[in-house]
Amino acid sequence: MLLENRVALVTGAGSGIGAAGAVALAREGAKVIVTDKNGDTAHAIAARIKDGGGKANARTLDVTEDDALVAAIEETAKAEGRLDILHSHAGVQIEGKLEQVSIADMDLSWRLNVRSHFVAAKAALGPMRRQGRGSVIITSSNSGVQYDREMIAYATTKHAVLAMTRQMAADYAREGIRFNALCPGFIDTPFNLGFEVQMGGREKLEEYIRDVIPMGRFGTVEEIADAIVFLASDRSSFMTGHAFVVDGGECI
Ligand code: NAI
Repeated sequence: MLLENRVALVTGAGSGIGAAGAVALAREGAKVIVTDKNGDTAHAIAARIKDGGGKANARTLDVTEDDALVAAIEETAKAEGRLDILHSHAGVQIEGKLEQVSIADMDLSWRLNVRSHFVAAKAALGPMRRQGRGSVIITSSNSGVQYDREMIAYATTKHAVLAMTRQMAADYAREGIRFNALCPGFIDTPFNLGFEVQMGGREKLEEYIRDVIPMGRFGTVEEIADAIVFLASDRSSFMTGHAFVVDGGECI
C-alpha cells in the first residue's frame, strides 16, 4: 500500500470527487478525516471506509468558516500526531458572464475557491513542517488553465488558486512540502447540475460533451481518485507546483 501510516484530511468529501478520493486514500492505507458541510454524508463516507476495513473519522466542516477549518486541521494533527495529506477540495461554481454574476456571488466564489484553500494550507503548514514532509492537493479545475463558457466567477477563481498553488510550492519546496493543483474536466457528479441547467438539460449536456471532449465522454470519479492517490503519495515525490489536468483532452 502506498499510504500506510499516513494521515489525510479531505474537505468536501461527502460526495463526488472528494468522496472517491477519500475512499481511494484509505484503500492505500491512509487514515482519512472525511469532512463536509453536510455532516451526514461525511459520516456515511467514513462508515463506508470503515466497513471496507479502512481507517476514517468524520467531521462536519464548512470551509467558509475560518475558525472551524483551522480547528479541524490543527485538532487532526494533534489527535493523530501528524498530517501528511491535505486535499482541500470543496468549491463552488457560479455560472454566468460579467453582467450576470452578482458581486455577492463573485465574493462567494473567491471565498470558497481561493480563500478557503489559503486558510487550509496555512493551517497544514505547521504539522507538515515539523514532519519535514507533506502533500497539499488543492482542487482547481481545467477551468483554471483555459477559459470557460460564461463562467467568469468560476474561471477567474480557479485560475487564481492555481497561481497561489504555484507560489506556495516554490516557497516551501525546500521544506519537503509539495503543493499541486488537481484540475479535473467534466466528471459526472452533482457539481455539474448548474451547468446542465445552463446548457438546457442533461441530454444537451451529454451532446455537448460528446462534441467538445476529445474522448467524447465524462470522466469518472474513480479516474480522478487515481490522480489524487498519485499526488498524495511518493509516486509524485518530484512533482510540485503543477496543474495536474485530467480532462479527456478537453484543454489541449
Ligand atoms: P459534488 O457536488 O459531488 O460534491 C461537493 C461536496 O462539497 C458536497 O458534498 C458538498 O456538501 C460539499 N461542500 C459544498 N460547499 C461546502 C463548504 N462550504 N464546505 C465544505 N463542504 C462543502 O462535487 P465534486 O464533483 O466533488 O466537485 C467539487 C470540487 O471539484 C469543486 O472544487 C469543483 O470546482 C471541482 N471540480 C469538479 C468538476 C466536476 O466536473 N465535477 C470539474 C472540475 C473541478
